Amino acid sequence: MEEKKTVMGRENCRGKGGKAGFKVAILGAAGGIGQSLSLLMKMNPLVSLLHLYDVVNAPGVTADVSHMDTGAVVKGFLGAKQLEDALKGMDLVIIPAGVPRKPGMTREMTSLKSMLGLLRHYVKGNPVNSTVAIAAEVFKKAGTYDPKKLLGVTTLDVARANTFVAEVLGLDPREVDVLVVGGHAGVTILPLLSQVKPPSSFTPSEIEYLTNRIQNGGTEVVEAKAGAGSATLSMAYAAAKFADACLRGLRGDANVIECSFVASHVVTELPFFATKVRLGRIGAEEEYQLGPLNEYERVGLEKAKEELAGSIQKGVDFIRK
Ligand code: LMR
Repeated sequence: MEEKKTVMGRENCRGKGGKAGFKVAILGAAGGIGQSLSLLMKMNPLVSLLHLYDVVNAPGVTADVSHMDTGAVVKGFLGAKQLEDALKGMDLVIIPAGVPRKPGMTREMTSLKSMLGLLRHYVKGNPVNSTVAIAAEVFKKAGTYDPKKLLGVTTLDVARANTFVAEVLGLDPREVDVLVVGGHAGVTILPLLSQVKPPSSFTPSEIEYLTNRIQNGGTEVVEAKAGAGSATLSMAYAAAKFADACLRGLRGDANVIECSFVASHVVTELPFFATKVRLGRIGAEEEYQLGPLNEYERVGLEKAKEELAGSIQKGVDFIRK
């Protein structure tokens, strides 16, 4: 209890109404995901100060969001010269900046060329499978890398899995909990349907259908938007949900468990892997083993690991070479 007070006292600030809370920065706040995410974080009662940064349109989004009568104070930051001020003293930094996919493109095609500039700008995106490794390398170079504090957001895969599984089971998605591990692209997204809560059994064709739909959820949206971008609303929802969990962890709440793509030591031999982690005051404090897998999932895990290894290495080489 005493420690909690100290942490809150050191980290917190006072928003409107004098309520203690956390300071959160969004980098890429004027983008397709960033705008909705800014709205959702302004509505989060745990946030007392919200820094909205972007290379364009940050003042407009800031003015707009600042008229919402919620507690968080909002400040806007525009362009590289203001990036440092946007980051100073923040408890949590969320980076939704990216380049949307067009139909027919894989996540990798969008990222590694067009995202380099953005990532170098912000961490001196998508796909998480490579960008977390890129961010780690950038932080290592700067001597500031803390593996517990760099978390790739895979919450949208879990949200999609809960939604699609609930549809098949005829349940409310809020009653369903699907563990999704691996990464955030195609076959690296591995839903462990044998561990669904509440305990449920699926026919082989349901397993095939659900696995494919969960793995291709992003593509489903890209194709439906027909060239106008990729998922922004559900991605902002997922990022806001994950950010809220991070803040509850920072506050010292017990048992805040979420899936995230993190530096991994015990789950597989890969340096990064999405698995269940316990979020606490110092970030991802504990990672959990995958639990018992059936044959279908074991085969899926091997495929996921093979692709992930390449994507992670691409990220590392991107900075090192
Ligand atoms: C998603 O899962 O919707 C995002 O990663 C965007 C994309 O390109 O699929």
